[in-house]
Amino acid sequence: MARTTARGNGRTIPASRVRDVARHFPTKNDLPEKTRDEVIILLNQRLADCIDLQTQCKQAHWNVKGPTFIALHELFDSVAADVTNYVDLIAERIVQLGGIAEGTIGVVEARSSLVDYPIGIVTGAEHVAALSDALSEFGRLARMGIEEMNSLEDAGTADILTEISRGIDKWLWFVEAHQQA
Ligand SMILES: [Fe+2]
Repeated sequence: MARTTARGNGRTIPASRVRDVARHFPTKNDLPEKTRDEVIILLNQRLADCIDLQTQCKQAHWNVKGPTFIALHELFDSVAADVTNYVDLIAERIVQLGGIAEGTIGVVEARSSLVDYPIGIVTGAEHVAALSDALSEFGRLARMGIEEMNSLEDAGTADILTEISRGIDKWLWFVEAHQQA
């Protein structure tokens, strides 16, 4: 059955129409409107990925167990805190360009490119493997986004994604180091 989205007036809309609600606001930002429209669409994709990643970091933070518990529990929360900031950077850039930041759980579920985080895993090694997969995949998507913004000649958004990419690479190192020796 198709998911539906509740509305204030009691009607529902099918989730397949989530993509149709995008609208853009006029702005004095001098990037060409066509550029802004394309950037908004691409950034909303990355926003869904980033919110998904944020939930995956918390899932790892809450559920990891074993002899490395406290180190990993704290590490995963530090990753989550930075990823939360990345979510905000992406969402607010979308709004600055006249778009709507589409960050609800329903949109994220429909749109995220990340693989679902495995729910039943327990050990530090399992969470390190799962979260490093997610960080690696999001890092690839952020780098792809930088290339897209460079070709759209939006240096500001490319810079934001570069900052995010740099941070994700650092956290991938912190997590992955547990597997490297
Ligand atoms: Fe916590």
